[in-house]
Amino acid sequence: MTSPVRLALLGCGTVGSDVVRLLHEQSADLAARIGAPLEIAGIAVRRLGRDRGDLPVDPALFTTDPLGLIKRDDVDVVVEVVGGIEPARTWLVEALRAGKSVVTANKALLAEDGATLHDAAAEGGADLYYEASVAGAIPLLRPLRESLHGDRINRVTGIVNGTTNFILSAMDATGAGFAEALEEATELGYAEADPTADVEGFDAAAKAAILASLAFHTRVTAADVHREGITEVTAADVASAKAMGCTIKLLCIAARGADAAGRETVSVRVHPAMIPLTHPLASVGDAFNAVFVEAEAAGQLMFYGRGAGGAPTASAVLGDVVAVARNRLAGVHAASESAYADLPVRPMGEALTRYHISLDVADRPGVLESVAGVFARHEVSIATVRQGPAGGGPDAELVIVTHVAPDAALAATVGELRGLDIVRSVTSVLRVEGGA
Ligand SMILES: NC(=O)c1ccc[n+]([C@@H]2O[C@H](COP(=O)([O-])OP(=O)(O)OC[C@H]3O[C@@H](n4cnc5c(N)ncnc54)[C@H](OP(=O)(O)O)[C@@H]3O)[C@@H](O)[C@H]2O)c1
Repeated sequence: MTSPVRLALLGCGTVGSDVVRLLHEQSADLAARIGAPLEIAGIAVRRLGRDRGDLPVDPALFTTDPLGLIKRDDVDVVVEVVGGIEPARTWLVEALRAGKSVVTANKALLAEDGATLHDAAAEGGADLYYEASVAGAIPLLRPLRESLHGDRINRVTGIVNGTTNFILSAMDATGAGFAEALEEATELGYAEADPTADVEGFDAAAKAAILASLAFHTRVTAADVHREGITEVTAADVASAKAMGCTIKLLCIAARGADAAGRETVSVRVHPAMIPLTHPLASVGDAFNAVFVEAEAAGQLMFYGRGAGGAPTASAVLGDVVAVARNRLAGVHAASESAYADLPVRPMGEALTRYHISLDVADRPGVLESVAGVFARHEVSIATVRQGPAGGGPDAELVIVTHVAPDAALAATVGELRGLDIVRSVTSVLRVEGGA
């Protein structure tokens, strides 16, 4: 058989240890599929003395010198499952420039500075694969970057963070508030000790940037993504959504649009939104992920599965390892980054959204007219208004759903409503997606 393809594994934590296990368990099949065996040349970690259980690997392979490992002549492919921006960027640039293909799960780095990695891959004539960086086990990036390359993608809407989906699903099922649902998620191991990256939407924003870059052939970074987390979502919001036949999800939305001059643009955002229960994403519960893609010719496509966890993520990593190993044996490398469209990313204020607004108002004549006047002044058109008694007091509740309008106009409308003396309180403001 052909000489082995030798891997440098950087990181041996949740994902890396399952990469090691799968490489061991499936070595014969992987060798047959690739046409050469895969061998681990070395494993870089932070702590040599860490207990790694019964990992099926020679302890002599561990090192605390990732750069030294990458530079070794007997390393062909670098698999990075450490995470973070630095030193991972330095390592991967070094590998790629030296012509060593890279497989990485590092969404943070790709979203922050994917351009540097893509440029290094082009310079070194190496492959850069990162299927595991978005939505774990779900085959999603390959379909975007290969299967759908003959089509035109108009919109990508995804639930790409399992922790927040678990929390929102729990709030929906039990009526619990955010803090209580987060506590449950932490106890069950769905939320990390510091949940900021998940609940504030940073993790989803990084994935949104990667998805938008691939879908629209445009370099989109995490800084281009409008981001709102779920910490402000209340039990009252969830109840409001239910009353409308909706549920609340943390969505990442990447969509084509046009600016005032008719030039094509993209908008990329992460925020909680109400979606109707009839939408395919509404039934995605617990910690699952799903991504809904709308393409010109293919129509609507939905990708669903486990978005995190050692084994699911390792599955995506190994799929990439097989691809780059095959390319290496064939003496080819995959097409480099496609960023030719270079579309401008529109600020959030210009993105077209719809709002669902609940207000406690004074129950007296003329109130509806005053409230409607605020919407009219901001050129926001109202789709529906529902009025009912508010909490048994002298007030009334108004629930208003708008038509689409620039997000800035909607936000300004809510701002002005808050200042009206007839408005006792704005009890809930949520964006609405998917035709509710
Ligand atoms: N966990 C998931 O479900 C998941 C899903 C999708 C993507 N990802 C991505 O996969 C990557 C890894 O995640 P993970 O959950 O496996 O992380 P993890 O459990 O924290 O493991 C990180 C590994 O990197 C090693 N490491 C850290 N700093 C290092 C350094 N300076 N030099 C050498 N090794 C270093 C650690 O060494 P020690 O073992 O000695 O501590 C550990 O083995 C991240 O980019 C993450 O975003 C994770």
